[in-house]
Amino acid sequence: MFTLREEKPADWWEVEALYDLCFAPGREALSSYRLRDGIDPVEGLSLTARDAEGILAGAIRFWPVLVGGHRVLLLGPVAVHPTRQGEGLGGLLIQHSLALAAEQGWKRVMLVGDRPYYARFGFEVLPDVTMPPPTNPDRVLGLALVPDAWTGVAGDVTRAAPVR
Ligand SMILES: CC(C)(COP(=O)(O)OP(=O)(O)OC[C@H]1O[C@@H](n2cnc3c(N)ncnc32)[C@H](O)[C@@H]1OP(=O)(O)O)[C@@H](O)C(=O)NCCC(=O)NCCS
Repeated sequence: MFTLREEKPADWWEVEALYDLCFAPGREALSSYRLRDGIDPVEGLSLTARDAEGILAGAIRFWPVLVGGHRVLLLGPVAVHPTRQGEGLGGLLIQHSLALAAEQGWKRVMLVGDRPYYARFGFEVLPDVTMPPPTNPDRVLGLALVPDAWTGVAGDVTRAAPVR
């Protein structure tokens, strides 16, 4: 009932409007946005989900970052329209895009978010990874797309050049 497609430039402002609706005002003041400023999202991973009428129901974006010099995929923002939440669409967007990320050769993913939600996808707290302040360390979560991908990966999260 939802069609997932790679986000295109023409989708950008519609997705921004969905994020404005779904997140608290001032979302762009979050430190994670400083890691995205001036850097393109990762090509082929940011997705839109539209219903049969073409109405945007959900979206997910990814940016490249570095942790201690290692390439890491930063998941987010992800959001589902309030009238479509709880139908599994958030999970579908996350799982589909993570499968694409593994196909692209990404080894590890991180995000800043609610552990109770993301634990179902295998995300765990990254105690040795530090986001720019102010970020609650309990919300810094990671997932290995290949075994042991986070072993020895620690330190500050910094901006990365886009991977094309
Ligand atoms: C988080 C979000 C993307 C989930 O999308 P969704 O389509 O509703 O998610 P799903 O249908 O796949 O999963 C729903 C389940 O997740 C749970 N859930 C949703 N948000 C949660 C949260 N923040 N913490 C814990 N559990 C959460 C729901 O209670 C529900 O649980 P159930 O399966 O036991 O009934 C969506 O709620 C949303 O857009 N929220 C506002 C924006 C946001 O917070 N984005 C994430 C930033 S970290």
